[in-house]
Amino acid sequence: MSLPTAEPPPTPPHRAALGDRSLFPDLRWPIYANHAAISPPSLAVRAAVAAALEAYATEGVGAFGAWHAQRGRLKGLLADLIGAAPADIGLVPNTTAGLIAVAQCFPWQAGDRVVVFEGEFPTNVTPWQQAAAAFGLEVVTLPVADLARPGGADLGPLEAALRRGARLVAISAVQFQTGLRAPLEAITGLCHAHGAQICVDAIQALGVVPLAVGAVDYLACGGHKWMMGLEGAGFLYARPDRAAALRPRLAGWLSHEQAADFLFEPGRLRYDKPIRPRIDFLEAGAPNSAGYAGLEAGVGLIAQLGVERIFDHVQRWHDAAEAGLIERGFTSLRAPDRARRSGVLGVRPPAPHTVAGLAAALGERGVACTTPDGVLRFAPHWPNALGEVPRLLDAVDDALASA
Ligand SMILES: Cc1ncc(COP(=O)(O)O)c(C=O)c1O
Repeated sequence: MSLPTAEPPPTPPHRAALGDRSLFPDLRWPIYANHAAISPPSLAVRAAVAAALEAYATEGVGAFGAWHAQRGRLKGLLADLIGAAPADIGLVPNTTAGLIAVAQCFPWQAGDRVVVFEGEFPTNVTPWQQAAAAFGLEVVTLPVADLARPGGADLGPLEAALRRGARLVAISAVQFQTGLRAPLEAITGLCHAHGAQICVDAIQALGVVPLAVGAVDYLACGGHKWMMGLEGAGFLYARPDRAAALRPRLAGWLSHEQAADFLFEPGRLRYDKPIRPRIDFLEAGAPNSAGYAGLEAGVGLIAQLGVERIFDHVQRWHDAAEAGLIERGFTSLRAPDRARRSGVLGVRPPAPHTVAGLAAALGERGVACTTPDGVLRFAPHWPNALGEVPRLLDAVDDALASA
């Protein structure tokens, strides 16, 4: 989109440190292990959002140019995070919107097959079901248990499905309840060897698990979990050749080349300008300026620390918590090997305790965790101190005794 140029606003000067919560002074939970759900905004995110609001409050439309430039800078940061080019990133509200865009704009032919996995978050099933109804596709569901085998993922059933013919495989980089990391490189290679494309839901991975986009065709991610931005500001990556082949069924007024020039020059109001053959054609209308300001600040702190260091830190927290929970009779769903681990530690409590009862009892003791699909889920991130774990285990002892 060509717009009058403006300087992007300065980024807030906050510094992050592993295990240090001082950028979250108002967080009321002594132990917040819910980054797989929603991350609280850091002071950096709050300052960035406040700066955007302040600019719009004082300038009105005059603020647009600077925050348009800020989104260009954000794309650079996101591209660095996944090892892609900024031009291959389109800003969309959330993971779901990114996946809906691929599902609705893919150049389907009736009878095409889409492979999905059992146990997926519905975000990565509903859009394919809707595309199946709209375009006459078949959705093939494979058991996730094959990916979770203790000795390593068994890709045999996927390969068999690909041999029968599939246009696209949709998978999460990290399963939302167990934290199992998928072998994306191997799956991508298999898909491409059989002429299929791969679309990845990365929201449970990006920001905490080192993840390069590699040869993946599409990758969607919301900003409010491990990237530590706000709800309603995420992105979709598409390989440039795949983006160019999409049918722009979700295009809007800002999807055209030189979309906005008619606002500044006479005689440019036309409806036949080409749609951009890049994934940013999905930036189809007025953007969530404040949300993207927040996302840049959240990802900026992650970039300061480095995802590898964050992953190591979180694994140390998990190591200590998992050992203590197993001692107390819990069953851990954490993968045995590091390459299949993530930021999520899922456990099942010993009988007769229920996940819901324990989560509520932990909540009363200042521990925030969640219960997706019958699993007790702990999801710490870079601000969680390792010193929290003994306090977590004390709270668990207390909760078990009280039930
Ligand atoms: C694996 C997974 N995908 C998608 C979502 C939802 O993503 P969004 O709200 O960004 O669409 C969640 C959780 O909310 C999730 O755990």
